Amino acid sequence: MGLSSFFPQGPTPVTGRPYILSIGNEKGGTGKSTTAMHIAVSLLRLGKQVAIIDLDGRQRSLMRYMENRRQWVERTGQSVPQPLSFVVERSRHRSADESEGDERIRFEEALAAAWKSDFILIDTPGADTFLARLGHEAADTLVTPINDSFVDFDLMGTVDPVTFKVTRPSLYAEMVWESRKRRAMERRSPLDWVVLRNRISGVDARNKRRVGDVLQALSSRIGFRIAPGFGERVIYRELFPLGLTLMDLTDVDPGFKVSVSHVAARQEVRELMAALKLPGTVAEEPAKADDTTPERAGLKLPLFAQTS
Ligand SMILES: Nc1ncnc2c1ncn2[C@@H]1O[C@H](COP(=O)(O)OP(=O)(O)O)[C@@H](O)[C@H]1O
Ligand SMILES: [Mg+2]
Repeated sequence: MGLSSFFPQGPTPVTGRPYILSIGNEKGGTGKSTTAMHIAVSLLRLGKQVAIIDLDGRQRSLMRYMENRRQWVERTGQSVPQPLSFVVERSRHRSADESEGDERIRFEEALAAAWKSDFILIDTPGADTFLARLGHEAADTLVTPINDSFVDFDLMGTVDPVTFKVTRPSLYAEMVWESRKRRAMERRSPLDWVVLRNRISGVDARNKRRVGDVLQALSSRIGFRIAPGFGERVIYRELFPLGLTLMDLTDVDPGFKVSVSHVAARQEVRELMAALKLPGTVAEEPAKADDTTPERAGLKLPLFAQTS
């Protein structure tokens, strides 16, 4: 039956209700919560009302991020925009039927409570659970971060090592496919699936290119778009205890030094936002030569030598 009561029928673009972004990948540790946090703060900084729903009740990374954010505000007296936050824990019921029914009810309650926002951002657990499936099913856009390595690509599909042809989609790709079929039957708008290369190494150009070729082959076969990725950078994780992201650094003082790598990271996040083409967000200008110093990009100083 799906979540059809929330979604009026018709393949028209989404209007008059929040736009739902889910971050998903069956594998843990690929950067889902990190990506979710950076998208959430980017949207908040565009003046959008954002609600987050953390479906990973075990790790609660996104929720913890937001708790840290609130505490940072209390501690420093500085202000940053905050989202509404919800966690949906896994059910404690033993029987599958009872537990799925219970999880569905609590997920729908969270959706309903978040419904006044412009955007709902759902972080899903890195496992094939019922809650993860609900999170995928609700999405207008699904963002799947994958580590920039052939090992992680296997989770999208099997690729012939010589020809780079996709020989078989993965179980995860099939799950997304099933969900696409279901929403077509329910006459909901089609899912926009965007894959994000994460932790791209700045040093291995050859691997980067080969990985790019394989991802391209998977993209046309499995049906996703490829967004420009995130590099391997300390800044993507070091602000976690403060609950900040580098998108906050234009008007708050994090109390530590900003590096050139931070400017590059900020550009990566902007490029992701532009690639997502979310309704009501105007793509920011791509990097200009002038934008490549922290001062010109409007980042708080002092400057610091490159850290990563
Ligand atoms: N681009 C990146 N550069 C550096 N560290 C990263 C990057 N992306 C993620 N990480 C780190 O990798 C770990 C896993 O990321 P996380 O977002 O928690 O993944 P998931 O939610 O998929 O399990 C965390 O320690 C996170 O800080
Ligand atoms: Mg996570």
